Amino acid sequence: MEKDIPYIAIFASGTGSNAVKIISHFRENNIEANFCILSNKKDAPVLQKAAELNIETFSFGRKDFAENDTVLNYLKEKNIKLIVLAGFLWLVPKNLVENYPEKIINIHPALLPNYGGKGMYGMKVHTAVVDNKEKASGITIHFVDEHYDHGKHILQKSFDVLPDDTPEMVAKKVQQLEHKYFPQVVENLYLQ
Ligand code: GRF
Repeated sequence: MEKDIPYIAIFASGTGSNAVKIISHFRENNIEANFCILSNKKDAPVLQKAAELNIETFSFGRKDFAENDTVLNYLKEKNIKLIVLAGFLWLVPKNLVENYPEKIINIHPALLPNYGGKGMYGMKVHTAVVDNKEKASGITIHFVDEHYDHGKHILQKSFDVLPDDTPEMVAKKVQQLEHKYFPQVVENLYLQ
């Protein structure tokens, strides 16, 4: 990897569809960036996708993330322009937030401040939205601070939840919005 090209560090512990969309977007549009993918799950599908895309990876446990500087030191060796949480569930510790002010962003699959906070992720969010007969849901892209799903909003996009929509249908609509908007937001922040 060329050293002077800035890095985007993606934290992900799930399937990694957003991570793939972001990396593909940069490649398709010839935007120079280095990527690395960090995961707290050694068997996360996102790590397999990273290997296929020839992206370096780093996996870590809770101690190395929240109790010592292992993850921070890994990042500090790189010229990090942006840190992107894309399906990462752990609270980001103070040492990371303080070292990367307004450089860490997260995507949440609902219209925050609704349906956010510890334990609100994946299908739990969409099931709650349907159970509460919400008329709309959507996505929120926001800066990360020391609280779950709390920092300043960067972008929200919404869609109608129809009376017959199931949580799976809501999940699908959320994913379509995520894939449409997240890569562009990452590009904008990376290039600014
Ligand atoms: C997305 O729905 C995102 O909003 C949430 O976790 C999910 C990650 O999906 N934070 P994927 O792993 O990128 O497919």
